[in-house]
Amino acid sequence: MKTIAGFLSGITVLITTFMSCTNTSTNTAPAAGISKQPFGEADGKPVDLYTLTNKNGVQVKISTYGGVITSWITPDKNGKQSSIVLGFDSLSGYLAKPPYFGALIGRYGNRIANGKFKIGDSTYTLATNNGKNSLHGGNKGFDKVVWTAATPNDSVASLALSYLSKDGEEGYPGNLQVNVVYTLTPDNELEITYDATTDKATPINLTQHSYFNLTGDHANTILGHKLQLDADYYTPVDTSLIPTGELKAVKGTPFDFTSPHLIGERIDSVPGGYDHNFVLNSKDGSLHQAATLTDSVSGRKLEVFTTEPGIQFYSGNFLNGSIKDNSGKPFNQHTGMCLETQHFPNSPNEPKFPNTILKPGEKYHTVTKYKISW
Ligand code: GLA
Repeated sequence: MKTIAGFLSGITVLITTFMSCTNTSTNTAPAAGISKQPFGEADGKPVDLYTLTNKNGVQVKISTYGGVITSWITPDKNGKQSSIVLGFDSLSGYLAKPPYFGALIGRYGNRIANGKFKIGDSTYTLATNNGKNSLHGGNKGFDKVVWTAATPNDSVASLALSYLSKDGEEGYPGNLQVNVVYTLTPDNELEITYDATTDKATPINLTQHSYFNLTGDHANTILGHKLQLDADYYTPVDTSLIPTGELKAVKGTPFDFTSPHLIGERIDSVPGGYDHNFVLNSKDGSLHQAATLTDSVSGRKLEVFTTEPGIQFYSGNFLNGSIKDNSGKPFNQHTGMCLETQHFPNSPNEPKFPNTILKPGEKYHTVTKYKISW
């Protein structure tokens, strides 16, 4: 059932309309900028939904609950507008805990084995929420909290979200101040910057968990999308999806996406489907292209750029139709896929993986851009 009460109760507040339109003479360009409307309440706090719009008709809606991208509307090659991510149009869909739909993930994206790690002589025990492991921050990760929003820059469509994760939250050490900025550019990029500081050494691995379906209709699967990844190696996993520690060459395996392949082409030979961290070839921490995803039917292309060393390609294996959208249409298996830029899963227990421990005085800073074209 469509729940629009939250939308109707609020008056849309236009904060600013600013980005310069190059074709102002035609009046056909949508109003570029950022606006907000009430989206309900969580933890006794009001939740807002921000809409970022650019002059090309791209529109991204982001909730202060979980920093969730609820919809990401773009044209297709015929100019038809639809959302390229799985989502709900009411907060209740998210309060029912869908598997991280569209959300910001933290304090640690993906799994930490047995919910335990050591820093120096101290052993820390995390909330375990995925069998014996801790997944995506524990029981109440950053995807389930209300973030504080600001619109800091009046020359771009930017939404700044901040959250203070307290010392001991979900078992993690240190007060961690997290700031995430979403910016929709005139070039159809959604840029996400992640910054954080801490007062005690802590693991940190922030990411974004949008499920993409470039057809714009989750009646279709993503098996007909073509994926290319700039990764010669991946991190194989055990049966509980914890990396074994090995970096394995993709060459000659179904994990070889160094040239474009249909996702459905070899998925049957990957038990359970793709749910793996790929080791990106670029190692210097600069912004580099990690992934390209295309759908020939809609003509849409999604390019992912990141400063991160890894990307989790998850092919929506656990979606099973039990969760439905606002019109009652189920989210079936493989109807969405995630490209989560990140450090490697379980790094705090794998000294050979790139470091994920942030110390007091250090600054955590990563950037990821999702660029859409059609
Ligand atoms: C991540 C994990 C998957 C799964 C999904 C959420 O991407 O790698 O194993 O837990 O989140 O369902």
